[in-house]
Amino acid sequence: MKIFLLIIAFVMVGMSFESCNKRISRSEMSFRPAPVTLPIPRGFPYMNLAADNPTTREGVQLGRMLFYDQIIDSGYKRSCGQCHILNESFSSAKENSLPHVNLVWNYTFLWNGKVDGSLENIMIFEVDSFFRTDLNRLNEHKKYPKLFKKAFGVDKITSKEVGYALAQFERTLTSTNSKYDRFLRSEEPLTEAEEAGRKIFFTEKGDCFHCHGTILLTDNTFHNNGLDSIPTLKGRDVITGKKNDRGKYKTPTLRNITLTPPYMHDGRFKTLEQVIDFYCDQVKWSPTIDPLMKQVKHGGIRLNKEERENLIAFLYTFTDTSYINNPAFSDPFQARSSEKKHTGY
Ligand code: HEC
Ligand code: HEC
Repeated sequence: MKIFLLIIAFVMVGMSFESCNKRISRSEMSFRPAPVTLPIPRGFPYMNLAADNPTTREGVQLGRMLFYDQIIDSGYKRSCGQCHILNESFSSAKENSLPHVNLVWNYTFLWNGKVDGSLENIMIFEVDSFFRTDLNRLNEHKKYPKLFKKAFGVDKITSKEVGYALAQFERTLTSTNSKYDRFLRSEEPLTEAEEAGRKIFFTEKGDCFHCHGTILLTDNTFHNNGLDSIPTLKGRDVITGKKNDRGKYKTPTLRNITLTPPYMHDGRFKTLEQVIDFYCDQVKWSPTIDPLMKQVKHGGIRLNKEERENLIAFLYTFTDTSYINNPAFSDPFQARSSEKKHTGY
């Protein structure tokens, strides 16, 4: 009888081992995220990709959901998408937030460059320091644990995976189809006014290209472009502690610039006309002004009325409507029911 019981016990232990093994192998099988290749668009530099965060369909979709979900905010009030609005190239007139466009080519983030590295670094900063995301809420959520498991193979969600998923979504936000891009690819000519503006932009006459140059329309570094004779104390100097960096801010990309008013780090200009008038006659000298603002002695580049209009016409060619209409970038919680199915929701 004892032996019989022992045999039964062995069999049962064996069975539970087996089912345990089965469970492991099943869960391992479910961690097979589908790789996504992000082609480098013609004429663009290499992307700043973190080697330990390969792009996958599951990761991008999870990042997109997190971007539009208020669960990210421990105060439960704001999603990323509320301050970074697709129609405004992921900026917001109300919050003067920095737009999200082609950030995968950035190496420094925020107006004063507080965070550097890759998208992973800025996203983990947002989650840990800015939003203080309540990870328990994610771990206890009905659906997120399964989605994190599928994207990253983890049983416990930490800020690393939240940041990595957001970074994967952010790196898909590339704009490469503005009229200017099509002009560069010889697919569409510029009008006479746009062409005249382009010449001002890319020559010493306007000198814009020195800082807003390359196909990214930013040099990704910090300058004092002469906004104030006594620069504010919130610039690059706050990060480096160097007096020499006073009044320096990150050069913003001019991609989709028509969609992202107000302008400058403090949103002081409401229109592009005001920005151009500033560069033409209101540039102010201060000890850290950039040497490239050499026309400061005349107050600026002093364009006439027609030249200002042409320059603005050229800035309009940076607008990429296919970017803001891309359904893959939109709020998945408001998407059509067929698409909802697609994201697992
Ligand atoms: C309350 C409004 C608000 C919310 C919500 C918000 N942001 Fe921002 N975001 C801003 C502002 C304002 C800036 C510019 C701040 C600065 O540079 O000091 C910014 C800057 C950024 C930048 C830097 C862009 C660059 O060019 O350097 C990134 C990236 C970013 N936010 C991502 C996110 C993500 C991801 C979320 C959600 C987790 C989020 N933001 C939520 C307002 C917001
Ligand atoms: C010395 C480098 C430099 C030059 C030259 C320069 N800019 Fe800028 N630009 C900047 C910086 C830095 C900022 C952000 C300044 C700030 O907010 O404090 C900026 C901001 C802007 C903005 C507002 C962007 C936003 O998202 O708020 C526009 C538009 C702009 N520049 C257009 C131009 C044009 C057009 C020219 C040529 C006439 C030009 N810039 C020349 C460095 C430069």
